[in-house]
Amino acid sequence: MQQFLKRKFIKSSLLLPFFMLGACKIGFNKITSTNFFSQNKMSNHYPFQLPQLPYAKNALAPYISENTINYHYGKHHQAYITNLNNLIANTELATKTLEEIIKISASDKTKTAIFNNAAQVWNHTFYWHSIMPNGGGKPSTDLLKKIELDFGSYENFIAEFKNAAATQFGSGWAWLVLEENKLKIIKTGNAETPLTTNAKPLLTIDVWEHAYYLDFQNARPNYIDTFLNHLINWNFAYQNFKN
Ligand SMILES: [Fe+2]
Repeated sequence: MQQFLKRKFIKSSLLLPFFMLGACKIGFNKITSTNFFSQNKMSNHYPFQLPQLPYAKNALAPYISENTINYHYGKHHQAYITNLNNLIANTELATKTLEEIIKISASDKTKTAIFNNAAQVWNHTFYWHSIMPNGGGKPSTDLLKKIELDFGSYENFIAEFKNAAATQFGSGWAWLVLEENKLKIIKTGNAETPLTTNAKPLLTIDVWEHAYYLDFQNARPNYIDTFLNHLINWNFAYQNFKN
């Protein structure tokens, strides 16, 4: 028995570096706005599955609580996945990627429910990567220079981003996008997404009440400040900017 356990321990020890190498490879993959499903080994065809969070559910606390993640990610994001799968099962859309489904359904009035759920799957996955534990602060030099060029100053960018996120009436999103080589801030209602436009999304904040109500109640401006000061993932925005 002792020999068996010894052999098992040696075998496990030999395999460990390969597991670690695999984990590192996944961790260091460049996840960008156009490829994060495939690069992060997420399923991008029917049946869609809830993509893994890029951090632990309690890792954003105290700014976003595990309770919020349990509802926002575990219930709301999951519901969009489940609804989408139910809506496209046994249809021609079942063979399409998520991005294809969004683009096809956006221009078809008979597919509004499919669009809403598909776009919300994409928007939420993008949002989880737009924030990170120990985020916040300023972006790296290249992106900071571009922000200063296109907005006049970093402070102007912050003011414009806060204003867009705070004034999106009802449910929706605020985005930093790149369009015709110029950085812009846009806001979209409900499930609307820049994916259906020529603008390339670099990062987003979810301003649906379900994103902040448990932690901030109705104080959306406090949630926006917290997002900018403690959560925003500039590395993700930079990767999208460079790609
Ligand atoms: Fe949300």
